[in-house]
Amino acid sequence: MKIPYGKQSISNKDISVVKKTLQSNFLTQGPKVKFFENSIAKFVGSKHVVAVNSATSALHIACLSIGLKKDDYLWTSANSFVASSNCALYCGAKIDFIDIDIKTYNICHKKLEKKLEYAKKKRILPKVIVVVHICGFSAPMKEIYKLSKKYKFKIIEDASHAIGGLYFKNKIGSCKFSDITVFSFHPVKIITTAEGGAAITNNSKIASNLRLYADHGVARNKNKSKFKGKELWNFDQIKLGYNYRMNEIQAALGLSQLKKINSFLRIRNTIANRYNRELKNLPIILPNMDSNIYSSFHLYVILVKNTREHKKLFNYLIMKKIIVNLHYIPIYRHSFYKSLGFKKGYCPSAEDYYSRAISLPIYPNIKNAEQKYVINCIKDYFK
Ligand SMILES: Cc1ncc(COP(=O)(O)O)c(C=O)c1O
Repeated sequence: MKIPYGKQSISNKDISVVKKTLQSNFLTQGPKVKFFENSIAKFVGSKHVVAVNSATSALHIACLSIGLKKDDYLWTSANSFVASSNCALYCGAKIDFIDIDIKTYNICHKKLEKKLEYAKKKRILPKVIVVVHICGFSAPMKEIYKLSKKYKFKIIEDASHAIGGLYFKNKIGSCKFSDITVFSFHPVKIITTAEGGAAITNNSKIASNLRLYADHGVARNKNKSKFKGKELWNFDQIKLGYNYRMNEIQAALGLSQLKKINSFLRIRNTIANRYNRELKNLPIILPNMDSNIYSSFHLYVILVKNTREHKKLFNYLIMKKIIVNLHYIPIYRHSFYKSLGFKKGYCPSAEDYYSRAISLPIYPNIKNAEQKYVINCIKDYFK
């Protein structure tokens, strides 16, 4: 049996609510999507939630909704999935990358400040920064928020990994330090809707834009603030939008999963604590535990101390049928980004991390014996 790095946890109850939805009158837009949005809003303590078909879609409409356009700059962490930066290019904007703090693997706010100072002189300040909460650990939002006021950029939190996480007691998704937060409900994430995501904001104008962009740019007669027509059947396309809507089947699964989110988070933290305890005396670096941050532990990443061990340990674990992974190749190292002119070595800490990081298995249904096996294999490797 192979042990994956991540996996969904689907119960019989999840299956039965999906089945019931398939037998109901609504498959696309209906009451469940609304209920799911309201439930997420309540869970994170924010005003508006727009449920969509992926975090990638949510990032795209987030950028559009705050007016990112051709030749604007969007900056994001070099250490993320490509969706965090592709959203800029979908809007015709330009992309640049911020290096990470090698302790937290998130954006380094000191390097960010230096980059902003330089960009100000060159008049190439970003309009938006997509702040990624890597593995479920919040980025330094207070510092980044302060910089956003000084240099006048908007903040989108890419919290694809981080629903349920806390930052100085603030729920990630409360948007206390940002304009918009984005979640992913992909199967390996904390809760799943198969494919799925959400964009969250406390700003009603942004929320109305998010809804428009996710629904073809079409204002319907129920959207009073945008729609000018009188007839019941009228609708009017007022922006170039997309079909990014979440459907009822996804929302039914999401609602059922959301009921279990606190137990999922607890189990993920228990698994992480067990790794922390068992692996602490080995020549590897464990996640940086910060008492002001509660991680949702989407990923549990270890760093080998010596780059030479990286491939060897990675391959050894794969050989032992432990399907470890690497999150992430610095985005600009992908062929497509190289073709835009980015060069190897652009963000040294993200590259250092990339040359040493391994994601170990972490998901609610991992058995104790399976985790023990992973731990023993790593211990054996270093013997
Ligand atoms: C940091 C980050 N952002 C965005 C995404 C895109 O999420 P989705 O698959 O829901 O589009 C992912 C997916 O893995 C991710 O890890």
